[in-house]
Amino acid sequence: MEPIMNELLQQHRDAEAMLARLAAGVIRVQRQGVHGEGVMNELSELRREIQGEVLRHFREEEQALFPVLGRHIDSSSGPIAMLMEEHAQFRQLQLEEALAALESRHQDGWEEKLCQAGDAIGRLMPAHIEKEESVLFPMAEQMLGEDECAEVRTLWSHANAAALTE
Ligand SMILES: [Fe+2]
Repeated sequence: MEPIMNELLQQHRDAEAMLARLAAGVIRVQRQGVHGEGVMNELSELRREIQGEVLRHFREEEQALFPVLGRHIDSSSGPIAMLMEEHAQFRQLQLEEALAALESRHQDGWEEKLCQAGDAIGRLMPAHIEKEESVLFPMAEQMLGEDECAEVRTLWSHANAAALTE
């Protein structure tokens, strides 16, 4: 298997582990509130993980894999458009914003917002990952030649480097 695809698959496994921790975090917030022992530490850690890894994963797909694959399949409809739309939905849930607000002790309504966002992500993300792995990644494996894989890798490095200087 192409190393880029392997890397994306590994990131999905990491995301699943993160989802399990998020679900546990939501339950703790519901039971103990953010003042429960260690709850805030765990939420802060999750926030760093989401910002570092989940958003990087989205970036690598949206700014490297999808555009190059989009030369072979229409990206204004079909799987690429659908997956992009789902990424946008995850961002709209404002999980990070809720975590940041709780971290800076703005609690008005943010506990509830965090729980809703966490629940929604836990419901939607497994199907999203499944779609990528059963539909998009096999297409990429089949359609992208060596040069294009190298191009994905270059775009991916550029996207991550640009994000560092944001
Ligand atoms: Fe993905």
